[in-house]
Amino acid sequence: MKTIELANHKGTLAYDEVGSGLPIVLLHGFPFDHTMWSPQLEAIAAAGFRVLAPDFPRFGQSPAFGEPFTIDGAGHLIADWLSALSIERAVIAGLSMGGYVAMAFARQHRQRLAGLILADTKSAPDDAAGREGRDKAIAKVQVDGPAAFSESMVGKLISPKANQGVFDLAKSIMLRQNAEAITTALMALRDRPDATPGLAAITVPTLVIVGEEDAVTPPAAAKALSANIATSELVRIADAGHLSNIEQPEEFNRAVIAFLKKMQ
Ligand code: MLT
Repeated sequence: MKTIELANHKGTLAYDEVGSGLPIVLLHGFPFDHTMWSPQLEAIAAAGFRVLAPDFPRFGQSPAFGEPFTIDGAGHLIADWLSALSIERAVIAGLSMGGYVAMAFARQHRQRLAGLILADTKSAPDDAAGREGRDKAIAKVQVDGPAAFSESMVGKLISPKANQGVFDLAKSIMLRQNAEAITTALMALRDRPDATPGLAAITVPTLVIVGEEDAVTPPAAAKALSANIATSELVRIADAGHLSNIEQPEEFNRAVIAFLKKMQ
């Protein structure tokens, strides 16, 4: 694990890095950290790429930053982190919340985007019921604690067909996240902007991936996302829910590496 101070953002970002070549950034979902990419890091690096995976502020090994956590703010944070590493252009990949941040980066820093991978995510913001659900979740974390929240959430993320190992891996990462990480991210998710209007401006190669049994950001949302990005292709992963990269890592990696190879 490496760390780097980002004075503009009043914090020190922790990240993992492996391999060399075209930089690929993997942005984690909620409420996880960069270790959710453990089935991808070495595999993508072995295919000839430099793979970088940060922990968002308060998640994993990144501490709290002296600024509020927002999806748009995270887009700028990733850009400044890449600048600090002297990386001008990168492929940005994100799953779910990571995808929201990847779309923010695409809006904000278009010239720095070499390609985009949007996994199990969507462009639409929360509707009124969704925002109410976030507020109830924040209350649950505050009253019952982060572990109870994560226990109640994990079953919704994964296909019922998944084996116990997948379930245990997801749960163990979720249980490591603290109450402040979870509540500040829930606010950021609740208040995130509509990414749909920005999609037409994306002109780089884009891969949209979705687990066929994703109940959180379902295949219909991925289809709409792909339909709005002229340069995109859509890959559906069978027997996977919302955590397609953990549930079917071989299929996921095959799709990602085939996509990246076209850019080398
Ligand atoms: C995630 O996996 O990052 C979250 O499910 C995203 C969300 O709740 O909108």
